[in-house]
Amino acid sequence: MRLVTVLGARPQFIKAALLSRLLRDEGVSEILVHTGQHYEAELSDIFFRDLQIPTPDYELGVGSGSHAAQTASMMERLEHVLCKENPDYVLVYGDTNSTLAAALVAAKLNIPVAHVEAGLRSYNRTMPEEINRVITDHLSSLLFCPTATAVDNLKAEGITEGIFWVGDIMYELFLRTHARLELSSAVCEKWGIQENRYYLLTLHRPGNVDHTETLRLTLDTLSRLKEKIIFPLHPRTAKTVNMLYQDGFAFGDNFIVMKPVGYLEMLQLERCAKAIITDSGGVQKEAFFLRKPCFTLRPQTEWIETVKTGWNQLLSVGPAMLDALEAVREGGAYDETLFGDGDTARKIYSIFKEHVVTQEVPR
Ligand code: UD1
Ligand code: UDP
Repeated sequence: MRLVTVLGARPQFIKAALLSRLLRDEGVSEILVHTGQHYEAELSDIFFRDLQIPTPDYELGVGSGSHAAQTASMMERLEHVLCKENPDYVLVYGDTNSTLAAALVAAKLNIPVAHVEAGLRSYNRTMPEEINRVITDHLSSLLFCPTATAVDNLKAEGITEGIFWVGDIMYELFLRTHARLELSSAVCEKWGIQENRYYLLTLHRPGNVDHTETLRLTLDTLSRLKEKIIFPLHPRTAKTVNMLYQDGFAFGDNFIVMKPVGYLEMLQLERCAKAIITDSGGVQKEAFFLRKPCFTLRPQTEWIETVKTGWNQLLSVGPAMLDALEAVREGGAYDETLFGDGDTARKIYSIFKEHVVTQEVPR
């Protein structure tokens, strides 16, 4: 079996780590392509190193750009790779422009697409990820769903074949990593913080960070919290913060601002936080896995289970959010099975094995 896996952004490196290793251990020939969507060491190299992801066979070096320019450039370069490699499947993860570009190119070359994290919906088409998800799912032959809700979402859109509830690949990585994670005291010492005495904050959604006034309101409001705020700064957000600096903005004294951290350090920071404030999909889930109260600064979430169980609260930005943030409370019953049984990578491999023998796609 020959697969081409296409990755490009931070969460995709994290999602691919386990499956990539398992596929290779099982003798699958995996050709790894890095589109170059995320290129800074803190967003890319550190994950390949920490999670022992194999070195990509192709580095497309696409870099940043508008949606159309970035996606088009990926598509052009991916077409050369896929024509040359002619794999049995193209494997994509999540909902980034790298996911969409790979799915579109593969589908037009009649190469079946396998989508890990299929079926998620926020039902908010102003989010670029939502468009990427819907299109990728409708082009995919194998749809690996992380939750039962995702399965239902696909069926509601008329997709009937190739749907598999395999559980969440990030949950499996979390379980495996968390079990052998070192004590977090060194991380607390490094940043001068105390366990359960700080909020961990991540922000990178365009709706929250692209406009100076919105970001300033969020940061100014959060500076009124008594506790410390640990804030690993996504480069998209850093760009707007730099504009704010030119306007005389300064972070509140309770902020500790840093470059993005690696996965292991991030898990440690999540584990020791009093609560987590985020707009990230992956961080919402990890908060849930760790049973940490989470506040999501978005009007909707595709990880609806985390809200329904009471561990995640959706908040809109503004002074009113302070009351909710100060009244941190734990969620309700924790259902261990919502994100699968922690054996997602093996389930995906077994499904591949079964399908690659039987599929006959004219090309
Ligand atoms: C992308 C994904 C988003 C995902 C996020 C994970 C899309 C549409 N968005 O958002 O779904 O949640 O990654 O973090 O695919 N930049 C750098 N260095 C880098 C990469 C980016 O400075 O290595 C800056 C550039 O100014 C760039 C901006 O960040 O314009 C945004 O990067 P981009 O990859 O387009 O989108 P993200 O916001 O990172
Ligand atoms: N993450 C990390 N370092 C950081 C911020 C996030 O390792 O500084 C990890 C986080 O633990 C989670 C993943 O990145 O596993 C989430 O990715 P991101 O927030 O970039 O994207 P999203 O999940 O929103 O698509």
